[in-house]
Amino acid sequence: MSELSGEVFYPDPAAAGAAHVPDHEALRASAAADPLRFWADRASELEWFKPWEKVLDASNPPFFKWFTGASTNIVHNCIDRHLSGPYKNKLALIWVGENGTDHESYSYFSLNREVTKMANVLRAMGVTKGDKVTIYLPRIPEVVFAMLACAKLGAVHSVIFAGFSADALQDRIGDSESKLVITADGSWVNGSIFRLKDIVDEALRFSPSVENVIVVRRTGHEVVMDPLRDHWYHDLTALPIAKGPCATEPMDAEDTLFILYTSGSTGKPKAILHTHGGYMVGTYTTLKYTFDIRDEDRWWCTADPGWITGHSYLVYGPLLTGATTFMFEGGPTYPYPNRWWQLIEHYGITTLYTAPTAIRSLMRFGEAWPNRHDMSSLRLLGSVGEPINPEAWHWYHRVIGKGRCPIMDTWWQTETGMFQICPVPSMPLKPGSGGKPFFGQEAEILDEAGNPVPDGEEGFLVLKNPWPAMLRTLYKDDERYVNTYWSKYPGKYLAGDSARRDADGYFWVIGRTDDVIKVSGHRLGTAEVESALVSHPAVAEAAAIGLPHDVKGHAIHVFVVLRMGFESSPALAEDLRKHVATHLSPIAKPDGVDFAEKLPKTRSGKIMRRVLKARALGQDEGDLTTLDE
Ligand code: WTA
Repeated sequence: MSELSGEVFYPDPAAAGAAHVPDHEALRASAAADPLRFWADRASELEWFKPWEKVLDASNPPFFKWFTGASTNIVHNCIDRHLSGPYKNKLALIWVGENGTDHESYSYFSLNREVTKMANVLRAMGVTKGDKVTIYLPRIPEVVFAMLACAKLGAVHSVIFAGFSADALQDRIGDSESKLVITADGSWVNGSIFRLKDIVDEALRFSPSVENVIVVRRTGHEVVMDPLRDHWYHDLTALPIAKGPCATEPMDAEDTLFILYTSGSTGKPKAILHTHGGYMVGTYTTLKYTFDIRDEDRWWCTADPGWITGHSYLVYGPLLTGATTFMFEGGPTYPYPNRWWQLIEHYGITTLYTAPTAIRSLMRFGEAWPNRHDMSSLRLLGSVGEPINPEAWHWYHRVIGKGRCPIMDTWWQTETGMFQICPVPSMPLKPGSGGKPFFGQEAEILDEAGNPVPDGEEGFLVLKNPWPAMLRTLYKDDERYVNTYWSKYPGKYLAGDSARRDADGYFWVIGRTDDVIKVSGHRLGTAEVESALVSHPAVAEAAAIGLPHDVKGHAIHVFVVLRMGFESSPALAEDLRKHVATHLSPIAKPDGVDFAEKLPKTRSGKIMRRVLKARALGQDEGDLTTLDE
């Protein structure tokens, strides 16, 4: 292997484990020579009711189809096939509640029992193939059952992060035309009850498509139940309808598995659409290779199922590979900042997959907290959601991984469904770089005109090859799909990130080039924050930007122009921050509020957020020729 430049960590392949990819260079070369062969071979490791005619149908780009003509169901591969093999009694899911005392575990056998029960209930309530179901649940086992039960019946799930407000929930329920909502009475957030059911009630006042609501009891407080619409889950499962087997629906490989709303540059959140066949092959392969999944692993992805990371690598990927997936209801610092380390020690976690924000927030509490725990079970670490700064990388590597555990920094998106740029454990690592495109993928860095920039220079990140878990479209909006991802550079997928590639072929993602802000790894759009602000009676106009933040990566900062008759004050600023928290989500609460006389705009009326950002950071405002005044 040639010497690499910059700071490089050469993992010990024996210690790190490289069972699935002992020679990454050879695999990279063979997958590059014939990507479709590579994907067909991986797909053959899974079970299909009917084989495919074509691996990839690229006859109508960018509407790519994978494994055309094939029939399968992702649940068949996540659960059913394991029931007749050695994994039947292996633990599929271990769950621990926020209080640290509630815990449940499910083997593949008992996971099947729970998913079947929920599927029977859904079917009895009229849910059939193609129906949309909104899932608004905390991180409890039922969220996993609900997703899998929908998929088993061929229904399309739309999981909404249970930190979104009633307005956000209502928009997403309305857009998806869901006929059923699955929720809970409440969720636990740092020891307090967050009243989920009340939020659902408010959202449903204007959601005509919803016929039934299933309510899981989690927090046990009093909630109002609409006798015609709302049903306790434990009452339903006690009925004869819940009993007996439930067939897993055969699905065309291209049938929709789920939609997932995510923030874009402009306007309302868009629903990314993923399918049964390709998504299954993509998440299975990337998890197995990148994290070298082994039989004895206990895999912990800390993401919430409300985001793509939870979909792909807390639920589907681990079950497809027959792993044991670990789910924790709480956050990293409640009640003390050793909660995660305690769980790793107690449950013998082998792989921790989390976001840089969590690492940075835990770093602040010092090394004494993790050092109190024996974390020698850890074998690999992972990072996702935003660039990991070298300080956080080194701390994670040294203090958590004790210098032994390689860090897999995985770059991908809701749209890509699966890792796109990531290392494998046998590969040399550079802190802050995700390494190279996954096997079968090619990436490029382009300038505005579409020419590749020289190594080391920043440009627009694009992906060159279609991949199985790619989004198929934006739900109900093919045109926006084409315009957003495929029109800037025809034939290439525009990621919306800026990046560099170094002379060794390693990619370094810098951040978003559009109006998406990653706050603590969560994806938010400036437009959503602004529309929450202008719904406040005092606000005439608003602009939101992301400013660098030590822990969160970026924090939201807003500029508001008040309506006539309103005066700026610290109390109003606080009220506006709260308003965004309750009308969008607490994760979107602005850190700073500035009152302005007017906002910088182009002559065509577009807010120049770039100028606001430069001003807030005390930097040069750049080219102002398009500024209105
Ligand atoms: C950012 C999350 C740097 C990036 C899986 C991307 C990252 C956006 C990384 C997608 C990483 C994700 N290094 N940046 N390892 N992973 N990003 O849809 O800006 O919530 O475009 O998917 O997160 O966010 P999303």
